[in-house]
Amino acid sequence: MTYTGEYVKICTLDDIYEGEAKLFQVGKYEILLVNVNGKIRAYYARCAHALGLIEPEGFDGEKTITCPVHRWEYDALTGESINPEGSSLFPFDVKIEGNDIFVKVPSVPISDFKVKMFGIYRQKGVLNELGSNS
Ligand code: FES
Repeated sequence: MTYTGEYVKICTLDDIYEGEAKLFQVGKYEILLVNVNGKIRAYYARCAHALGLIEPEGFDGEKTITCPVHRWEYDALTGESINPEGSSLFPFDVKIEGNDIFVKVPSVPISDFKVKMFGIYRQKGVLNELGSNS
């Protein structure tokens, strides 16, 4: 999903090893940073189900992120839900410059993000699950 935001340096590649996940906070945005087999991914650290906080411990170190609240599972590489299917974590854009990891943090208040961006995004996932791509 394209969104307006600003790249913020979160940490360096030395701070997050392969198979590791960490939680960061930029303003009111909680960011789950994951190193999946050397690929860095960043997600809004709230579950698409009921906004449970996704803890770093929920990453199995290889390919799955599990929400601690009701155990929804997500593909760590894409953010898409595996169990149940049809939903997704909200992926933030990541940029790596040298050794530094930057995450594009949305430039809207978190309340607007939750309702207008994440809310619509989650709903799209549900619609796709029902077979509609609109
Ligand atoms: S809030 Fe994450 S599974 Fe329900």
